[in-house]
Amino acid sequence: MEKSKHFETLAVRTQTARTEQKEHSTPLFLTSSFMFDDAEDMRALFADEKEGNIYSRFTNPNNSELIEKMNLLEGVETGLTTATGMAAVFTTFAALLNSGDHLISCRSIFGSTHSVITKLLPKWNISHSYVDINTPETWQAAVKKETKLIYVETPSNPGIDIIDLEWLGKFSKQNNLILVVDNCFATPYLQQPVKYGADIVIHSATKYLDGQGRVMGGTINGSKKFVDPIKLFARHTGPSLSPFNAWVISKSLETLAVRMDKHSDNAFKLAQWLEKNKEIKLVKYPFLPSHPQHAIAKKQMSAGGGIVTFIVKGGVERGRKFMDALQMLSISANLGDTRSIVTHPASSTHAKLTEAERFESGILPGLVRISVGLEHVDDIISDVEQALNASK
Ligand SMILES: Cc1ncc(COP(=O)(O)O)c(C=O)c1O
Repeated sequence: MEKSKHFETLAVRTQTARTEQKEHSTPLFLTSSFMFDDAEDMRALFADEKEGNIYSRFTNPNNSELIEKMNLLEGVETGLTTATGMAAVFTTFAALLNSGDHLISCRSIFGSTHSVITKLLPKWNISHSYVDINTPETWQAAVKKETKLIYVETPSNPGIDIIDLEWLGKFSKQNNLILVVDNCFATPYLQQPVKYGADIVIHSATKYLDGQGRVMGGTINGSKKFVDPIKLFARHTGPSLSPFNAWVISKSLETLAVRMDKHSDNAFKLAQWLEKNKEIKLVKYPFLPSHPQHAIAKKQMSAGGGIVTFIVKGGVERGRKFMDALQMLSISANLGDTRSIVTHPASSTHAKLTEAERFESGILPGLVRISVGLEHVDDIISDVEQALNASK
């Protein structure tokens, strides 16, 4: 598909070559391996002298379609798919970092990514420094001669912190660091980190890319210079995405734009409603003027996305009562689904952090995260309202 086409067109029309059946919609290629024309064909494919599918741990038409689509949507050269978002995070670190290297990140990141950085990477003598996402002016002091990579989420999970990507792109170039951005909350429809100098963009495709809470998946897209070594690493170590999941996620991307518009619209309305409610202590949503990095969010995102966090008056106990009183919203650990989902990060996704670590990540004990779905916004608000009243 021509790069010049609009986002929605690229998401719908990027499609693997049709078979002789002339199917309209991409079929599922459930096959572990592919056939060679003859011995010479096999030799040439293994020697990388020609392109083609060999084995589904390396490539498969469903995965190739998803990768090509994500390359176009994120505006990058190349990419790969992985079994989960965490496989994307770990494979990127494992492929790009060597023993003795150092990385910079913020505490305001997803709990398992934090665990990889603090508990697993040290096993291979890879160290880290956490910097404060809200004070970029302090970051220079964290750069050492061994520093190789910066890893950020923006908006972050679950703090909804925003980092200025324009500033970060310049900072990483000045210091010759590889910039990796987890773009899971925004998706390429709302924000394209590569425009600002990111080298690699990571997604948990389990979230908005699938968007319907069905399959796990991960994507890594970026420049050939940095992604080619990750592809080689993945080819040999096998964190591959199943063709079925790739097929589901690629189909889902056809509706990403309309879904993200609606998620953002519903979330903004819920955030505005929560902010006016006297039972609520704090609401965080990127497009609310009260968000500390509202101006930066407006500069780099085209809408605020689907995640709202808030603190109910009355502490953790009230927060738990509120969740138990919900009648429609689901209590679940996922986000980015069509169904609205409520989570209490301190006792679920971020439970493995110490209390001090949670505090530094902005995860206060009473913080509730809502992944605002695609139900009618009035029904979402009325369930939240009745649960607030019932939990008094
Ligand atoms: C921002 C972010 N990155 C990465 C992940 C990990 O993705 P997965 O659960 O697909 O492994 C998650 C999961 O919640 C996430 O929220």
